Amino acid sequence: MTATRGEIRSYRIRRGRLGATTAEALDRLGELIVAVDGTPVDVPALFGRDAPLVVEIGSGMGEATAAMAAADPARNVLAVDVHVQGLGRLLRRAEDGALANVRVAQGDANVLLRDMLLPGSVDEVRVFFPDPWPKARHAKRRLVQRPFTDLVASRLRAGGRLHVATDWAPYAEQVQALLHAHPAYEVVHEGERPEHRPVTRFEQRGLDAGRAAYDVVARLRP
Ligand SMILES: C[S@@+](CC[C@H](N)C(=O)[O-])C[C@H]1O[C@@H](n2cnc3c(N)ncnc32)[C@H](O)[C@@H]1O
Repeated sequence: MTATRGEIRSYRIRRGRLGATTAEALDRLGELIVAVDGTPVDVPALFGRDAPLVVEIGSGMGEATAAMAAADPARNVLAVDVHVQGLGRLLRRAEDGALANVRVAQGDANVLLRDMLLPGSVDEVRVFFPDPWPKARHAKRRLVQRPFTDLVASRLRAGGRLHVATDWAPYAEQVQALLHAHPAYEVVHEGERPEHRPVTRFEQRGLDAGRAAYDVVARLRP
């Protein structure tokens, strides 16, 4: 895989079996998949057009990704996750919905942003329900921390947005404090889910268990 030696991993390694349909889709739609190997991506070539780029980190099974891409055909959406099963499901959803603006990248989003996308080239970064790492001794594995917000700031265009949602209250407080204190960002929304973001699969499990979601959107200052 693609984690850089010595870096903290924000994800768990899962060994699931690929269903036959997903495996077949991954084979057939291979040109829509970016391997996160550190090689710079030619984004217009990947999408076959030049359009504002949204990067969704940790797209999971991709339901929200596909719905948001369908509602926003003028932007390109690159979904990155370490788990190939969900990326395969997303590609199938995109195919079923005839979505021409979805591509996927398999591997660590930190590597994708740092080594493979150009500074100032991203219109929006989404992080919906990052692994909460609820135990105090694991909190250092949370994705959204100062090095990550610095990296995202370097990849966003001026005025571009970082949108984070979580249902783990201490994580929400951490993200809020981080983005309010960060000189590169201006917080433009905090609180309820904005209408354009559908409820995600992970979020629904939390809602069923009585946990409310919290969204923070910050804009990169010019
Ligand atoms: C809790 S799940 C949420 C999935 C989906 N966004 C949802 O709300 O249903 C978090 C996802 O983030 C992915 N993830 C965590 N750290 C990542 C990283 N550094 N790069 C790419 N994906 C990552 C995990 O593999 C997992 O699929």
